Amino acid sequence: MSKESKGIGPAARLAALVLLGCALFAGLVPPDARAEYGDVVINNYSDKSGMRPVVFPHWFHRIRYRCKVCHADLGFKFQAGGNDINMVKVIDGQFCGACHNGEVAWGIENCNMCHSGKNGTPTQVHESTTNSLVGGGTRPAPAAAGGTK
Ligand code: HEC
Ligand code: HEC
Ligand code: HEC
Repeated sequence: MSKESKGIGPAARLAALVLLGCALFAGLVPPDARAEYGDVVINNYSDKSGMRPVVFPHWFHRIRYRCKVCHADLGFKFQAGGNDINMVKVIDGQFCGACHNGEVAWGIENCNMCHSGKNGTPTQVHESTTNSLVGGGTRPAPAAAGGTK
């Protein structure tokens, strides 16, 4: 078994753009939605429970699934940190657990695959890669933090 694809080719980019276009057209995306493919850091509970924050690689998922799969069928709201996810729900097959169940994708025993952020990183959309995020030196602007409650 080898690595199946290396990086994101122009075709995949185009496909993603087309999908995005469709979603915009269908009115699925709020007008202020970002067209960027930033990672989403989710940290409503992780730090408080002694886990590293979750880094959700949006681009990686967007090139594999239509927006609708997650944002309509699975009910993910278009807001970083806006879904009140916890491990009971994930194990129960909701949110990430709809796919990360050892069948569609690797299962929840791989804690560090999801809990890969740097401790103390607030919930936000991060415009760059997981690497630079984990590498530190990130100082998010307050406006980038994922909403207030
Ligand atoms: C497929 C992704 C994924 C995997 C794998 C995963 N988690 Fe999580 N986990 C999440 C998400 C998303 C949240 C919500 C993050 C937040 O808001 O802080 C979360 C939250 C948590 C929380 C805080 C909320 C709660 O339920 O208490 C703990 C503790 C936790 N995870 C532990 C674990 C442990 C231990 C493992 C491995 C056995 C694990 N997680 C594997 C996605 C994952
Ligand atoms: C595999 C699931 C999945 C797919 C496919 C997906 N998203 Fe998301 N999206 C998420 C998750 C998870 C979040 C973060 C939610 C949270 O933090 O609770 C999110 C957050 C967002 C946000 C708010 C954060 C930001 O970046 O501004 C927007 C907008 C968004 N998605 C748009 C899209 C669009 C447009 C598509 C299709 C091109 C898409 N998503 C495809 C799972 C997905
Ligand atoms: C619609 C299905 C689906 C949902 C929902 C989903 N994932 Fe995934 N995810 C996948 C698939 C498929 C892969 C690729 C698995 C593989 O390579 O074996 C993946 C891979 C990943 C990876 C590894 C990326 C890489 O660079 O290899 C991470 C991290 C991840 N998911 C986190 C999450 C988190 C966190 C959530 C919930 C917020 C989530 N996923 C929700 C289907 C999904």
